[in-house]
Amino acid sequence: MLEKMGRNLPCWCGSGKKYKNCHAAFDSRVREFREQGYEVPSRKLIKNGEQIQKIRESSRINMAVLDAVTREIGEGMPCSRINEIVNDVTYSMGGIPAPLHYEGYPYSVCTSVNEEVCHGFPDRDTVLRSGDIVNVDVSTILDGFYSDSSRMFLIGEVSEEKQKLVRVCRECVDRGLEQVRPWGFLGDMGQAVHDHALKNGMSVVSTIGGHGCGLEFHEDPYVSYVSRRGTGMLMVPGMIFTIEPMVNLGGPEVTVDAENGWEVRTRDGLPSAQWEIMVLVTEEGHEVLTW
Ligand code: MF3
Ligand code: CO
Repeated sequence: MLEKMGRNLPCWCGSGKKYKNCHAAFDSRVREFREQGYEVPSRKLIKNGEQIQKIRESSRINMAVLDAVTREIGEGMPCSRINEIVNDVTYSMGGIPAPLHYEGYPYSVCTSVNEEVCHGFPDRDTVLRSGDIVNVDVSTILDGFYSDSSRMFLIGEVSEEKQKLVRVCRECVDRGLEQVRPWGFLGDMGQAVHDHALKNGMSVVSTIGGHGCGLEFHEDPYVSYVSRRGTGMLMVPGMIFTIEPMVNLGGPEVTVDAENGWEVRTRDGLPSAQWEIMVLVTEEGHEVLTW
C-alpha cells in the first residue's frame, strides 16, 4: 500500500527518477525471492548510477597503482618499496590508501609472500627473492568511494607448482566471474571457484572471504568461495562485491600472526595465492570495476 502510494515519489536509490520508473519492478522481484526464503540484499547495498561512476573513478586509481607496482616489482626489492609506490601513485591521483589505519592496520598496502595468505606487512626486511610469489593487495578511497583489487607477481625463477597455483587461482576468479549475473546467487559464483581449485588438487581458505565494497571498504555481504550453487545472497543489479579467493597448495587451514594480529599464513607452511577483482552486477550480467 505504502509503496503503491509512493510510485510518483523519487526512488529510494537516489537516482532522482520516479519510483515507478526506477526500482518498483525490481522491488517486487526481490520481494518474491524473499518470500520464498532466499537471502536478499538490503537497499543500502544497491548503488545508483552516480555512485557507480565515483566507484569507477576510485577503481581507475586502484588499477593505476597496481600497474605502477607491475612495472617496478622484482628481485631484491623490499616490500617497503611497494608501500612507497602505493602512497606516491595514490596521493598523486587524489586518492587515499584505504588500508592505512583501517582497524589499526599500519601500512598502505598488503604484500603477502609465499605461505603468507593475506594481510602481509610490506616491511623493509621482507625482500623479494627469486622463486617467490607475492600478492599485492591495493585498496583506494576517492572522495569517500572505495575500490579494492589485488594481483599476484612471480619473482625471478618460480617453481612449476607455484606457477600452477598462481594460474589456477586466477582461473578460479574467472570461473566465478562467469557466474555473476542478476537474479543468480552468490553461491553460484562460490561453487564455481571452489570446484576449480579442488579439481586441481588445491584448497580454498574458508574462514576469510570477500565482501561488498564501494560506499565502505567492507560492506555486506560476506562472500564465501566454498559456498554452494543456489545458496547465499541473491545477486541483483547495482550490487558490488569482490571475488578474491585464497587458494592453497596444501590444506585450507590458516593461522594469524600472534605478535601483530594481522599477517595470515598457511598452517602447513605451503604456498598460497590470491587474486582479487571487484565486480558490479548489471542488468545484462556484470562489469569488472577493478582487477
Ligand atoms: N584489501 C583486503 C581485502 O581484500 C583488506 C585488507 S584489510 C587491511 O579485503 F587492513 F589489511 F588493509
Ligand atoms: Co577485498
